[in-house]
Amino acid sequence: MQKIVIAIDGYSSCGKSTTAKAVAAELGYAYIDTGAMYRGVTLYLLENGIAFDDLPRIEQALHEMQVSFKRNRQTGRNELCLDGKVREDEIRQMRISNSVSEVSGLPLVRHAMVRQQQQMARRRGVVMDGRDIGTTVFPDAEVKVFMTAEVLTRALRRQEELATKNEHVPVEDIVDNLQKRDHLDSTRTESPLRRASDAVLLDTTHMMIDEQVDFVLERVSAAL
Ligand code: C5P
Repeated sequence: MQKIVIAIDGYSSCGKSTTAKAVAAELGYAYIDTGAMYRGVTLYLLENGIAFDDLPRIEQALHEMQVSFKRNRQTGRNELCLDGKVREDEIRQMRISNSVSEVSGLPLVRHAMVRQQQQMARRRGVVMDGRDIGTTVFPDAEVKVFMTAEVLTRALRRQEELATKNEHVPVEDIVDNLQKRDHLDSTRTESPLRRASDAVLLDTTHMMIDEQVDFVLERVSAAL
């Protein structure tokens, strides 16, 4: 059967990755979490004391660092690795969430990540989630979904997720982080977060995961 690209973009913590992962599993496709890649770059810069405005050093760092995914055999999840080492837990921490949009707004970082994402999905058969997949990374994706949800719903979901990793954060701090990131992501000059003209809108505020997955799968059936 023909293999396609499914692009899932949208605001922070709308359930993009949970939906994308389930859709990929259902179709036997690869799942690529592009947000994890920007988080990985941010972690690398912070750990190596590289200032976010030191562009020559960042350029060099992008050549030095290796951002990749490794499948965890127990959970079946793709985990983000930096230089071959799994860093999945660290990249989800609030300190990374608080800095990632500044890093992802840098054109040189975006160019390097977009190139790698296009390369990873060159054989198609992927579900990719992020902010610019349907507009920049794969403007020719056969299925494009743009997800949104009310900010408090998103913050509560995120709070629950962080709590499972023993990070207890007040909901107001999460709302603040989501709003700041959405603003920075939507207003940057290089491939800002926006709905592609041919993306279908999915508001997940009152939806269960299964319903979100079914919604995307219906779109896939229609595209095949
Ligand atoms: O998806 P997640 O919330 O983990 O993404 C973290 C951050 O990475 C976003 O807030 C955004 O700044 C950046 N990002 C991006 N383009 C993508 C995916 C994520 O700029 N395709």
